[in-house]
Amino acid sequence: MADIKTFYLGYELKNPIILASCSLTRNIDNICQAESAGVAAVVLKSLFEEEIQSELGAVSSDFHPEAYEYEYSSAGLMYGSSKYLDLIKEAKKRVKIPVFASVNCIDSEIWIDYAKSIEEAGADGLELNISYISFSVNDDPREVEKRYLDIAESVKANLNIPIAVKIGWYFTSIPYMVKRLKDVGADGIVIFNRYYQLSYDIDKEKYVPVNYFSNASETYQVLRWVGVIHKQIDINIAATGGIHNAKQILEHIYMGASVVEIASVFYKNGIKYAENMLVELNKTLDDMNISSIKAIRGKGIDTIEEFKSLERVQYMKILGTKA
Ligand SMILES: Cc1cc2nc3c(=O)[nH]c(=O)nc-3n(C[C@H](O)[C@H](O)[C@H](O)COP(=O)(O)O)c2cc1C
Repeated sequence: MADIKTFYLGYELKNPIILASCSLTRNIDNICQAESAGVAAVVLKSLFEEEIQSELGAVSSDFHPEAYEYEYSSAGLMYGSSKYLDLIKEAKKRVKIPVFASVNCIDSEIWIDYAKSIEEAGADGLELNISYISFSVNDDPREVEKRYLDIAESVKANLNIPIAVKIGWYFTSIPYMVKRLKDVGADGIVIFNRYYQLSYDIDKEKYVPVNYFSNASETYQVLRWVGVIHKQIDINIAATGGIHNAKQILEHIYMGASVVEIASVFYKNGIKYAENMLVELNKTLDDMNISSIKAIRGKGIDTIEEFKSLERVQYMKILGTKA
C-alpha cells in the first residue's frame, strides 16, 4: 500500500484529507466522527470577526461576501467567542488529529488579541479566512492588498502556532499576493475561499443565495493556481473547492498541494464518506504503482513557462476548432 502521509503547517498528517471549515466542524461529535472516518485534520467553522466585536460592544458595518449561513441579524452569532475556545479545548481532548481554528476577518484588528486565546486554548494552527472584497470605486487595490498583509503580519507576530491564509481569487496577481503573504509570515495558503453566490429570484423579487455546495468541475480553477503557486513559492498549499473524489485529490497533489480541504462532499454523503475516499485513493495509487504521494507532489508541471505556453496553446486550439 502506498504511503499517503503528507506534511502541512509543520505537522505530519496521515493522509491529505482535511475536513474544511464549515458547519460540520462546529460540532464535537462530527469532529470525532471525522477522525474515526480517517480524516487527517479538521478546520473548525470560522469564528466571524463580528462575534468578537459584538462581545466588545463594537459592530462592523462591512459586508461579508461569504457569510454562508451566518446572518448577523438573526441566529448570526453562532458561537460567541468563549464557546469557540471551549470547542477547541473539547476537540483537543477528544481527538488526536490536528485541530485548526479559523477566523473570518475583513478588517478589524480587535480579534488579533483574541487569536492569542485561540492558541492558548490548544489550537494546532489558525486559518485566517480573510474575505474582504472591494465593492467600492474608491478602494485602491494596493490598500486592499495591504489590508490582507497587515492582518496576516500582525497575527503571525502574536502567535507561535502556524498560520495559513485562506484567500479568494479576486486579485490582479494571485502569485504576487501569495508571495507577499509568505513574506509577512504565512506558513500556508488555502486556495480558494468559495464566496457566496447570489442570484435574483424574479418571483420573490429578492436577491437569494444559490449553489450552496460545490460541483466537481469547479476544482479546475483551483488546480491551475495550485500549480502556478507551487512552481514559484515555497509555501504549504491546501487546495479547496470542488474536490469530490480521490482522482481529484491526486490531481491537486500532482500540481503541488500538500493537502485538500473538503466540505460539500461530506455534506452530501456524510462525513463517513472519507473512508470511501481513502480506499479509492489507496487503490488508485496501487493501480498506478506509485509508492508515496510525496513522490508525485508537484510533478504535474515542470516549469512555469510550460504552464503559460500550455494554457495559451490550448486556448488557440479551441479558437481554431471554433473557426
Ligand atoms: C455550509 C458551508 C459553510 C462554510 N463555512 C465556512 C466558514 O465558516 N469558513 C470558511 O473558511 N469556509 C467555509 N466554507 C467553505 C469551505 O471551507 C470550503 O473551502 C468550500 O466549501 C470549498 O470546498 P468544497 O468544494 O469541498 O465544498 C463553508 C462551506 C460550506 C458548504
